[in-house]
Amino acid sequence: MNKDIKRVIVSESDLAAICKRLGQQISNDYAGKKPLIVGLLKGCQPFVSDLMKNIDIYCYVDYMTVSSYHGTASCGTITIKKDLDTDIKGMDVIIVDDIVDTGITISNITEILYKRGANSIEVMALLDKKEGRQVDVNVKYIGMPVPNEFVVGYGLDYDGLYRNLPYIGVLKEEVYQK
Ligand code: IMP
Ligand code: MG
Repeated sequence: MNKDIKRVIVSESDLAAICKRLGQQISNDYAGKKPLIVGLLKGCQPFVSDLMKNIDIYCYVDYMTVSSYHGTASCGTITIKKDLDTDIKGMDVIIVDDIVDTGITISNITEILYKRGANSIEVMALLDKKEGRQVDVNVKYIGMPVPNEFVVGYGLDYDGLYRNLPYIGVLKEEVYQK
């Protein structure tokens, strides 16, 4: 598996530092509240696990699975494959995703969750691929910006694989051009 990686862009120690920093930020920003972390499966999984251990205030955690269909530029929709168990009315929601690329997933989910009556919604992404953006989204909490290349590891997959890499790396082109 490691042989398919061109270069590492976020090491294991970088990831630990990012989770610590973002966990502290959430603990400060939501002091006195009990926010709900909404992780977007499956990519969010290692990130949410490490992040939540660095949050030292009361918080709830729930998960959604969505798939997005990217049509032409700046249009796209999502389908909810697995919904939340939580009634989010009045809650302070933090949507956590592995990476924001076009922004289509995040903008659609934000709209859906607002319609359900969330009190507030903020977005956290481990990685921000700014160059890929097609719709404007406000990502308040960012682990790290990344260049417009296909990355895998620490939850991020290519064709369902590489999620179990403990670091994030750029996949060699020959792997996905087969
Ligand atoms: P978007 O912002 O709606 O384009 O969707 C972001 C989703 O696309 C992420 O949650 C990932 O599942 C996937 N994605 C985007 N870029 C990458 C990448 O470089 N590697 C793996 N998955 C990616
Ligand atoms: Mg995803």
